[in-house]
This record gives sequence, C-alpha cells and structure tokens, in this order.
Amino acid sequence: MREKILVKTFAGLELLLQEELIELGGLNCTILSRAVQCEGDIRFLYRVNYFSRLALRVLLQVKEFVFRNNKEYYDELYNVEVEKFLEPSGTLAISTTMHQSIFKTPLYASLLAKDAFCDRFRHRYDQRPSVDKEQPDVQFHIHIFENKATLYLDSSGDSLHKRGYRISTHPAALNEVVAAAIIKHTGWKADSDVIDFMCGSATLLIEAAMIALNIPAGFYRQRYGFFSWLTFNQNEWKKVKTEADIKEDVPIDFYGYDISGRYLGMAAKNIEKARLTDFIKLKKQNLIETHPARRPTLIVLNPPYGERLNVDDIGGLYKQIGDTLKKNFSNCTAWIISSDTNALKQIGLHASRKITLFNGALECKLMKFELYEGRKYSAPSHSER
Ligand SMILES: C[S@@+](CC[C@H](N)C(=O)[O-])C[C@H]1O[C@@H](n2cnc3c(N)ncnc32)[C@H](O)[C@@H]1O
Repeated sequence: MREKILVKTFAGLELLLQEELIELGGLNCTILSRAVQCEGDIRFLYRVNYFSRLALRVLLQVKEFVFRNNKEYYDELYNVEVEKFLEPSGTLAISTTMHQSIFKTPLYASLLAKDAFCDRFRHRYDQRPSVDKEQPDVQFHIHIFENKATLYLDSSGDSLHKRGYRISTHPAALNEVVAAAIIKHTGWKADSDVIDFMCGSATLLIEAAMIALNIPAGFYRQRYGFFSWLTFNQNEWKKVKTEADIKEDVPIDFYGYDISGRYLGMAAKNIEKARLTDFIKLKKQNLIETHPARRPTLIVLNPPYGERLNVDDIGGLYKQIGDTLKKNFSNCTAWIISSDTNALKQIGLHASRKITLFNGALECKLMKFELYEGRKYSAPSHSER
C-alpha cells in the first residue's frame, strides 16, 4: 500500500535528501522546509530508516483533517484506529508543532489528542495505554497549521543521526548527518584517500568509510520506533537488511590526526565500535607536522570555531591550515566547514565553492579549495545554499 511519508532533515540538506530518497525508491518527492514529503510502501519506510544518511526522522502520515474547534479536533482524533498500531496496555507519547492555531500551546493540543486516543481505548477495551515520554511503543507527532492538522507516527524513535557507533562524544563533534552531507557535497566517489588532520572523534572519517564500504547508516543501531508497532512486519524488515551490499575492503586509506591524545582516544573507541579499525589510521600530531600527500587525496576539516573549544589564536590556527594545505597537498581538494567566517579568511586560499550548512543550530560555511602546485587557485567563487 502506498503511504505518505515525511522525512525530516537539517535546513540546507533538503535537495541532497530528495536525491537520496529517489534513489531509495521514493515517489512524488517534494521538498519542504527541513523535510521532504514523499510516497512509498512500508518497505520503503524501513529502507529510509536503515539506509538514509541525511534523514533525521521518518514520519508515516496517518490522517489529515480540518477542524474549527476543540470538539472537532478531539472527534477527528477519536476516530483514528490507533488500536491498529498500539496495544491497550501499551505506551504512547505525543508531540505537536503548530503555527497560527486555535490552541494556545502545543502541549494543550498534545493533551487533547492523548485524551481522544485513550478514551477510544477505554470505551472499546476498558483499558487505556499509558504515557511514556522516554521510549514509548508508539510516538505520535501532530503538525497543526491554522485549522489543518496532520497526524503522523514517528517510525524512527531516536533521531537517525544517532547511528549507534558514537560511544564517546567530543565536545565539538559534528552531527553525523552533517558529516555525511559534507562527504556527499564533495562528490567523492571513494576513489581517493581521505585525510582529516583535525579529526577530533573522527565523525567525518567514519561517515566517509561507511560510504566507501557501503555500510548502511543504521547498521549499528539497535532500535527503531517501528519495532514496537503492532503492524511491524519482521519479514519486510529482514528483507531490507539483506539489501545491504557491504564491501569487505576498499583500495583507499583514511587518516585521522589530532593534536589531542584525549580526543584521539574518543576517535579510537568510536572507530572500534564501527568496526573500522582496519581502515582508519590515527596519529597524534599537530597539523603543522603533517607530511605531504603521496597521491591525490580528499581533505576534510572541521577546525575549532571558538564556540565550543577554546583556542587562543583562532586566526593564526586557520593561517596554519592554509599554509599546510599549500605546502603538502598540491593536486588535492580540501573541504573545510566552520562557522567562523573571519577565521576562514585567514586560510589565504581562494574558495571555489561556498555552501551554507547548519551543524545543529550553528550556521556554518562549507568551503572547497582546489589546490594546485605553485599558485593559489583563483577561479571566481560562487555561493550556494
Ligand atoms: C571541531 S573539533 C573536530 C571535531 C570532529 N569533527 C568530530 O566530529 O569529533 C577540532 C579539532 O581540532 C583539533 N586541533 C586544534 N588545533 C590543532 C592543531 N594545531 N593540530 C591538529 N589538531 C588540532 C582539536 O583538538 C579538535 O579535536
């Protein structure tokens, strides 16, 4: 059966997500703000949860309706066959987002919905589900715009950026979805080595290695929201997992350096959890000690922004990055993400692309530097969103 599905992501990643969803079999994909609306069957919904590197949440649309007052809103929700998804003895949670609605607060809209669902259960089964905000059997989401409401089931549970490999968290770690988006933006086809000489907990390298080895984004996750739906189809889920075509090896290397032994320890733990120790080589090293690349290499960097890590001379550090790139990485391409636009100017190289990305709430620029021997790249730059 063809379902309506809403896939959420970060601002600026909608187009990349749309491309990914079309590749995964999504039909009628339409870009919205921080989301893509599409259609597909339940297997597609499982597939997006398991394979999408850019999705944060996958919502299954259950009902769309208009209402003029509290009673109509309650009645519309009372008539939803929630017992198809949830046992009377099960647990639920409801979240609401709204714009220009008759309700004063989203919390009130959620409470009214909870009453409608629970009253339906009580009248039919003399028993009602209880609320569990931490790990409910069914997480509902209601979106209200003026007098129009859409009810969704959240099929993901925990946000999909929680891949399951991050067991040690760097204070300035990149979000996993943003890291995957950076690798996608580079256009890299797993055809060159990858270096991150300020790797922190190695998010960029882990995401790049997962892409190269075809490891599904959800490979290490233990749980998805849809596991506890009554409609959960184990067979379809098993089939989706067998679609993964994981490679055993790739003829390229991944190198991670960082000045901090503590952060490298975090990287090592995450890499081990992701079973990528044979692919990603780590070394404690100041970026100024980096050796010249022996073959064309993709450099991905997420230097400190000064927001979450204290750096005394941020401009001087970015100048060192530019000098290191010029000295050791001719014929390579570097992509640098930072929210510090002033510091980025200190790199002293001409960016051939500038893309706006959000790492959580932080607006960042992702810049591309094409490094040629003997001179700075000087093609006209252009900005994109
Ligand atoms: C923003 S963090 C990188 C976070 C990483 N992308 C992650 O997801 O965990 C920047 C990293 O640059 C490292 N760093 C700062 N100065 C450095 C230097 N001179 N040489 C090498 N690494 C440096 C810091 O130790 C820090 O781990």
